[in-house]
Amino acid sequence: METYDIIVLGGGPGGYLAAERAAQGGLKVCLFEKRALGGTCLNEGCIPTKTMLNSAKLYRHATESAAFGVTSENVKFDHAQVVKRKAKVVKTLVSGVGMTMSANKVTVVNAGAVIDGKQDGKFKITADGKDYFSDRLIIASGSEASVPPIPGVKEGLESGFVTTNREILDMTELPKELAVIGGGVIGLEMACYFASVGVKVTVIEMLDKIAGPTDRDICKVLQAEYEKRGMIFKLSAKVLEVKQGAVVYEDAAGRQECPCDKVLLSVGRRPATKGIGLETLNIEMNRGAVVTDDTLATSVPNVWAVGDCNGKIMLAHTAYREAEVAVNNILGKKDRINYDSIPSVIYTDPEVASVGFSKEAAEKAGMKVKEANVPMMYAGRYVAEVDGGKGFCKIVYDTDRNRVVGVHMIGSYASEMILSAAMMVDTELPLERLKKFVFPHPTVSEIIRETLFKL
Ligand code: NAI
Repeated sequence: METYDIIVLGGGPGGYLAAERAAQGGLKVCLFEKRALGGTCLNEGCIPTKTMLNSAKLYRHATESAAFGVTSENVKFDHAQVVKRKAKVVKTLVSGVGMTMSANKVTVVNAGAVIDGKQDGKFKITADGKDYFSDRLIIASGSEASVPPIPGVKEGLESGFVTTNREILDMTELPKELAVIGGGVIGLEMACYFASVGVKVTVIEMLDKIAGPTDRDICKVLQAEYEKRGMIFKLSAKVLEVKQGAVVYEDAAGRQECPCDKVLLSVGRRPATKGIGLETLNIEMNRGAVVTDDTLATSVPNVWAVGDCNGKIMLAHTAYREAEVAVNNILGKKDRINYDSIPSVIYTDPEVASVGFSKEAAEKAGMKVKEANVPMMYAGRYVAEVDGGKGFCKIVYDTDRNRVVGVHMIGSYASEMILSAAMMVDTELPLERLKKFVFPHPTVSEIIRETLFKL
């Protein structure tokens, strides 16, 4: 009988970090993964998309840098090579996770595990016909693409005409016309890649703006930038049907058809919690997500749930922190997660990054706030490197509590700068203290300092 202190279900960022930390804490750990270690993030999310987006950025630099004194001829974009390199990058990182697991003596079982309730006080897990037992469970089963009941979508997925974030990354030929259903994070990042390399991209979004809860002014700048590059946006559009060669939708102008030879379906993700035996634990669920508190504990003692499966914030770095919090509590060290200071990034070009409350959300939460908004042109480095950029930085400041509660920006390096903003939000330092931080010159990050001084 194989018995462990902890069994982890799922080998994505939440699962593998939980396994690593628990093993470092002296516990005997077994991790189950039915696909590949690294989960969505490494295999079909963060890492492959950033690898591909970097190729698109290089191509754009090579073809659109005349104003900077750089011209080139016969620049070619080899999508198949991009996909090949992406596979290599993924393989390197996935094997790195495997090595970390074995270095920490975590038993990794490459199989789908199913919980089968409790037996003799221990959780029972079955995988490939074998039973495993454990004192504690960490559920880290991740998420999967939502597939809405739009006529033709199911058939399209079967024929390959419709793709999700998974299939689109392995396509070796560029489509001529791509229709993206859903102008959220996945839709925009993939649209950025394909539009940058010459594909005609149409984004069909049911809301009146792209990028979901992202600051409205940021969305306007991003959309205008994309439109300049030829991307088409159909907002407030209801998709009626997907048929071979077109997406049929309805907007204010009536019923329309968007011709395309490939469709990306990116209308959100849902927790992957079915078929893993959670019902045998009688665990509290909410719309398919495992309910957790701020220590990541579930309604069942000794069961924790980290990452996308708890439906809180579906980001790899959230899963990382959640894994740490869960394991710290398991090891007897009190820890809690603060979801209000978790940054989020959209890796478009220009990049979008934000943390904490928008002005509207802060006011809705009862705060008295002041907002400062400064164009990135106030940072010398930005002017030096970006021609006619429309980037900006917004800071939302709680005047009663004298602390920054939100930072939102669009522009180069935003993904790298947002950490300092997240630290301001998390540490709750008073404004006078924040103003004393010295930002290196010349960097685009100086925009944060400039904006602080406008409050
Ligand atoms: P999302 O929630 O970001 O966006 C989905 C969009 O689809 C929304 O704008 C929604 O209004 C729209 N929509 C829904 N149903 C529709 C319909 N029938 N027709 C047209 N539009 C429709 O979801 P997305 O982009 O699929 O991403 C899933 C998750 O992956 C998110 O939680 C995101 O945080 C995560 N992710 C994060 C990334 C990052 O951190 N850079 C990158 C990619 C994904």
